[in-house]
Amino acid sequence: MKKLNVAVIGYGFMGRTHSNAFRQAPKFFSLPCEPVLKTVCARNAERGAAFAANWGFEKAVTDWREVVADKEIDLIDIASPNDTHCEIAVAAAKAGKMVMCEKPLGRNAAEARTMVDAVEAAGVPNSVWYNYRRIPAVTLAKQLIDEGRLGRIFHYRAKFLQDWTISADLPQGGEGLWRLDVAVAGSGVTGDLLAHCIDTAMWLNGGIEEVSAVTETFIKQRKHTLTGEVAPVGIDDASLFLARFNNGSLATFEATRYARGHKALYTLEINGEHASIFWDLHDLHRLQWFDHRDEGTLRGWRSLHITDRDHPYMGHWWVPGLQIGYEHSFIHQAADFLIAAGEGKSAQPTFRDGLATDLVTDAVLASAKNRTWEKVG
Ligand SMILES: NC(=O)c1ccc[n+]([C@@H]2O[C@H](COP(=O)([O-])OP(=O)(O)OC[C@H]3O[C@@H](n4cnc5c(N)ncnc54)[C@H](O)[C@@H]3O)[C@@H](O)[C@H]2O)c1
Repeated sequence: MKKLNVAVIGYGFMGRTHSNAFRQAPKFFSLPCEPVLKTVCARNAERGAAFAANWGFEKAVTDWREVVADKEIDLIDIASPNDTHCEIAVAAAKAGKMVMCEKPLGRNAAEARTMVDAVEAAGVPNSVWYNYRRIPAVTLAKQLIDEGRLGRIFHYRAKFLQDWTISADLPQGGEGLWRLDVAVAGSGVTGDLLAHCIDTAMWLNGGIEEVSAVTETFIKQRKHTLTGEVAPVGIDDASLFLARFNNGSLATFEATRYARGHKALYTLEINGEHASIFWDLHDLHRLQWFDHRDEGTLRGWRSLHITDRDHPYMGHWWVPGLQIGYEHSFIHQAADFLIAAGEGKSAQPTFRDGLATDLVTDAVLASAKNRTWEKVG
């Protein structure tokens, strides 16, 4: 089988999920090519070498420019913080490499547009790791909506709640805390958490026309890890917005890192004319379904256990009744990308889809700043 040499940039949380995905995908999916974990790029040589040995990469390098210049690399996978995405993706595309990139695509829509231009000019397969699309229950929700089973959609409701930045003693910036440094992250929960909700929402329910948002930075100053100085905090700690979709449905979105007790509570609900759907990341293998066309006396919310062979992706896994987890969404994305790349195509969400999300997050931040409704992009 043809080999496809992969370089992963970054060996943190996402470096692990992606390395695992490329390792597992060929074992469970029939692929047109075999991904080879060729190089991991990490700034710390010792830790990079340990990561490479653990995951079976052939080598570790300390500068991403080395993998861009390496003729043997076919695919550059960007799993490093947001401020690195644009420069690496543009250089990779110019070198003719396929590019996968973590979300948000850019720190803002201007960066994302530069990245779209680069991959489209080079004609290279590309994809953004909005992995929640590939949780089988969420993929099934997409199928049910596309089949028209919900009828006209009236409401979309999404939340992504965490609680890990409540302490005022938590510094900003540096390893593990770059999400609190606006120069690196681009924004706070808007780009980090709401971006996921927006990507799923537009995939399920179409484009967003306009937004009205409020954001808050609860802790205004934090010590910067790299400088040791107390500095203003530039990220949004919480972000809530109302939206109107192109199809006329209304939405509420909420994300915060100040919801005590919640670690990663991503939920979405869609209410249509005939039926409603509810999904919860903490119960990710279930889809709650209400169908008004059910027989009246038996009408009610059903909890569908998404483990049957005819559920999306599940035919590749164990036997009906046995569920899969978070890491599988990345394995599905790696498999879908490699299948599309085998035909020279991109896998959704493409960079252009990633730009669409960045246009919404830009509008959310502008709306919160200007205290106005903002049209998207
Ligand atoms: N899809 C998802 O659900 C999801 C979840 C978490 C993070 N993310 C995204 O993934 C990206 C990485 O986040 P993370 O949680 O893995 O961060 P992390 O802090 O765990 O890891 C980041 C890694 O990048 C490395 N790095 C930083 N600058 C680098 C550079 N110039 N060259 C090479 N390596 C560099 C760091 O050393 C570290 O290994 C971010 O864009 C984030 O938004 C996506």
